[in-house]
Amino acid sequence: MKFSPGKPLEEFMIEKKGKTIHVKFRYPRMSDTEEIMRYINAVTRETEFLRNNKRVTRKEEAKWLRDTINAMKTGKKIYIVAEINGRISGSGSVESMGGAGSHVGILGIALREKYTNMGIGTRLIELLMNEAIKIGIEVIKLSHYENNKRARHVYEKLGFRHAGVIPKARKSRNGKYHGEAIMYRILV
Ligand SMILES: CC(C)(COP(=O)(O)OP(=O)(O)OC[C@H]1O[C@@H](n2cnc3c(N)ncnc32)[C@H](O)[C@@H]1OP(=O)(O)O)[C@@H](O)C(=O)NCCC(=O)NCCS
Repeated sequence: MKFSPGKPLEEFMIEKKGKTIHVKFRYPRMSDTEEIMRYINAVTRETEFLRNNKRVTRKEEAKWLRDTINAMKTGKKIYIVAEINGRISGSGSVESMGGAGSHVGILGIALREKYTNMGIGTRLIELLMNEAIKIGIEVIKLSHYENNKRARHVYEKLGFRHAGVIPKARKSRNGKYHGEAIMYRILV
């Protein structure tokens, strides 16, 4: 698999309440730094269901994106942005665990709340799994807040199985503990 910055992967339209929403899934490029930072900080405000719950700075985001693109070039990671009506409003990744777990990829995904429940997350996870196979990923692993019912539903629908729950593994900003549910899917 060859990485090329900004490479388009999938494009489709969604009709919602008389409006047309244009969705494009593509690879990232360094010039996306500002847009990704803006989207990540927005999504972090909107949901409690992400492990990363701190604001990121431009400098942190640039380093993260540079490292991500390098990992994509060496076939260790897939990162796909969702450009929705021309703005980056979602993204997802699968990253190889390395070593004896090189064939195992950790999946993460987050969409801006206003674009949830339209089928975009389902399509992005399907694409991530297909792209992951191309870099040699055979097993996908993920975890979610135990009470994240929507994510759980989507993962179950896509064939993920439950491995178990680690009690108290996540703590909300208000100090409340939550279980972390671990799921997996054998791809090949
Ligand atoms: C979780 C997430 C990726 C799912 O993507 P999405 O585009 O919203 O999901 P889709 O529209 O493809 O599917 C949503 C499904 O969940 C269902 N759903 C919505 N709310 C639900 C709830 N509270 N309980 C159970 N199911 C729910 C919908 O009915 C739909 O089911 P269907 O496909 O069988 O009709 C997205 O909502 C998101 O990014 N949320 C915020 C961050 C997050 O939770 N990330 C995951 C961290 S592990």
